Amino acid sequence: MKRIFLFVMMCATVACVAAQTNTNTYHIVPKPAKLKPQQGQFVFDADTRIIVPTDDIDMHHAAFALLERLLLSTGFSNTIAVNTNGDIKPGKNMVYCKLNTSISNKEAYKMSIEKDRIEIEAGAPAGFFYAMQTIRQLLPPEIERNVRAKDVTWAVPCATIEDEPRYPYRGLMLDVCRHFSDAASVKHYIDKLAFHKINRFHWHLTDDQGWRIEIKKYPKLAEVSAWRDRTLIGPYVTTGRKYKQERYGGFYTQEQIKEVVAYAKKKFVTVIPEIEMPGHAVAALAAYPELSCTGGPFEVEGLWGIFNDVYCPRDNTFEFLENVISEVVELFPGEYIHIGGDECPKLRWQNCHHCQTMIKELGLKDDHELQSYFVTRMEKFINSKGKRIIGWDEILEGGLAPNATVMSWRGQEGGIAAAKQGHDVIMTPTSFCYLDYYQSEDRDREPLSIGGYVPMEKVYSFDPTPETLTDKEARHILGGQCNLWREYIATETHVEYMLFPRLAALSEAVWTPGNEKNYDNYMIRLTGILKHYDAMNINYSRSNLK
Ligand code: ACM
Ligand code: ZN
Repeated sequence: MKRIFLFVMMCATVACVAAQTNTNTYHIVPKPAKLKPQQGQFVFDADTRIIVPTDDIDMHHAAFALLERLLLSTGFSNTIAVNTNGDIKPGKNMVYCKLNTSISNKEAYKMSIEKDRIEIEAGAPAGFFYAMQTIRQLLPPEIERNVRAKDVTWAVPCATIEDEPRYPYRGLMLDVCRHFSDAASVKHYIDKLAFHKINRFHWHLTDDQGWRIEIKKYPKLAEVSAWRDRTLIGPYVTTGRKYKQERYGGFYTQEQIKEVVAYAKKKFVTVIPEIEMPGHAVAALAAYPELSCTGGPFEVEGLWGIFNDVYCPRDNTFEFLENVISEVVELFPGEYIHIGGDECPKLRWQNCHHCQTMIKELGLKDDHELQSYFVTRMEKFINSKGKRIIGWDEILEGGLAPNATVMSWRGQEGGIAAAKQGHDVIMTPTSFCYLDYYQSEDRDREPLSIGGYVPMEKVYSFDPTPETLTDKEARHILGGQCNLWREYIATETHVEYMLFPRLAALSEAVWTPGNEKNYDNYMIRLTGILKHYDAMNINYSRSNLK
């Protein structure tokens, strides 16, 4: 009797220990705001159904984000069922999505992963979409494959999650002017942004070295401005420059732009086009030299840097830019048009009779105020089209345009000044956010880069909200963004090397509550993410991995 009792006691103890030991891991980046581990797993099989509460297209896109991955990798034929009138009750083997209008943040979601079902609540499709990305990250990495993976148990660990982003603006900028990416590559990056819950793609479409968007009214932008005849070889030097004498370029047709924008919408990513003015305009001036102060001639640049030839603020220039913007606003449904505004030397304006007369006639103090006049005039036009402008922080010089949002890149000071003036701000300071900078101190082991040093831990430590702001001012900080300038980044594999995994670190800096961030813990979760990258065939950098 005693022995049996002891045996029973032992079994109970073992069961108890087993019950306490939760071997589940949660390799999610960005880390959810709240996650409570639970025991057990939910296993997807051929009969798992996704139930959605509404029949609208965004809701379908949210559910399809998971369904598409399942169909491509598992070989199952899972389906989506629409539950508009609530006839389908939560049941076994369902990913059951339920609208909860008390969840006011459109990107927030609550999810309960149980052994027999997954239940998701959100107030809008975006929230369901991010829940699906969380499930995607929790699934085995083979979920990323586009061919059927055999002998995989499609399990996700049980948990209860309450998640919402810290900032509404979570962005990446890609420069396609210095080096070009075709539309298919751009879509590939957008999918990877969505995987990390990044929701803005800032597309840098015009610069001195190339104009990359078809504008029907100005065909020479595609014929002339999109192509350069030479490209600097090696690092930037002041003497003995060598060039690759080869025609290089490309542009997106308006049809391709629409395709990318539509693709991004399915991934809950808003595309923000950047049309640079008044500087970084040499490629446009090569086709239309009459928009400059001197009349040219100009060639599309094959050298990097800042160039003196910029738009001259004359009527024909404004007519050109307004016509360009009129076509651009039709292609991009988002609220913002980025007008650049950075690095505009004033030398030509200082030596231009028209510019100097304008300064006098308009009663402007100096050429900074002329830049401010330029931006403000364009802002007025863009606002009249129902859009808002973003400009780099130089647009503060000479006075901010009344409704402008400032993208602070030369540190956070520009953003602080703008927020204090009551303007919205996106933080993207070079020292944390410039992914064209080296990611290792051992430069000899890295591909040639523009300079700088931004290792992953530095990106991770980025806090978009400066402590010096009051709560009211801090509300103007919409979020943060990383930038990838492409002077030295010619190929897609090199783009991937610079973006990943630093982009994962950014995602946590702009999504996860500050007090939940911990680099060591992030590095553990990143090991799971890297397996997904492997399955996606992403050429990520190992420079900051142990
Ligand atoms: C910039 O890096 N010139 C905005
Ligand atoms: Zn001029």
